[in-house]
Amino acid sequence: MIQAPPDTNRLSFRAWLDDDLDRFHDICSDPRVMEHVGNGEVWSRQQAAQFIQSATGTLREQGFCQWPVFHKSDHRLIGYCGFVKTGIAPEIGWRLSPEYWGKGLATEAARAILQYGFETLRFNCVVATVQAANAASIRVIDKLGMQLEDRFDRAGREVRIYAIESNAPSPHAKES
Ligand SMILES: CC(C)(COP(=O)(O)OP(=O)(O)OC[C@H]1O[C@@H](n2cnc3c(N)ncnc32)[C@H](O)[C@@H]1OP(=O)(O)O)[C@@H](O)C(=O)NCCC(=O)NCCS
Repeated sequence: MIQAPPDTNRLSFRAWLDDDLDRFHDICSDPRVMEHVGNGEVWSRQQAAQFIQSATGTLREQGFCQWPVFHKSDHRLIGYCGFVKTGIAPEIGWRLSPEYWGKGLATEAARAILQYGFETLRFNCVVATVQAANAASIRVIDKLGMQLEDRFDRAGREVRIYAIESNAPSPHAKES
């Protein structure tokens, strides 16, 4: 059965649909969004399509993915938040359209999804990978209560790994 985390106050999640591609590509072709992602290059329509295809397969096979996020006020796709499987542990990540930044929405989505990961998916530990220059994303990570575990250089960019255990005394279950 295809599953998605429950709604938050302002947000909802579901499986990806082919119709999401245009809007998702709009988000990923914005240089502000991609500045601290990978090598900073915007995504082609094909890359956005591959992401959706990969997330759809992961959801079917693993029961989780980087779910599309919708704002309940206007029902628009505003980005994604969710998990990918890495060698170490499930990795949480997020990406939102700039018009929705600065309203606490990434934190709201990430808290709900982290709680879903621990309580429903029974993850023991979740990691996050972020470029050191990505101050907004690091602030979201801090608000989740994640701890810095490692840092290294990748193609001239400092990358940090953060982690949180399911039993951590963290604010991840709070909604604010
Ligand atoms: C990272 C991202 C998802 C944050 O989304 P958001 O909805 O604006 O996040 P929130 O509002 O929940 O929290 C952002 C926090 O960062 C702070 N912040 C934003 N820009 C900042 C900056 N340049 N320096 C320091 N703090 C900053 C905000 O003030 C807020 O903290 P606060 O609640 O203490 O005030 C969004 O910026 C984004 O999509 N970026 C592009 C994609 C990306 O980088 N994804 C992550 C890859 S690891």
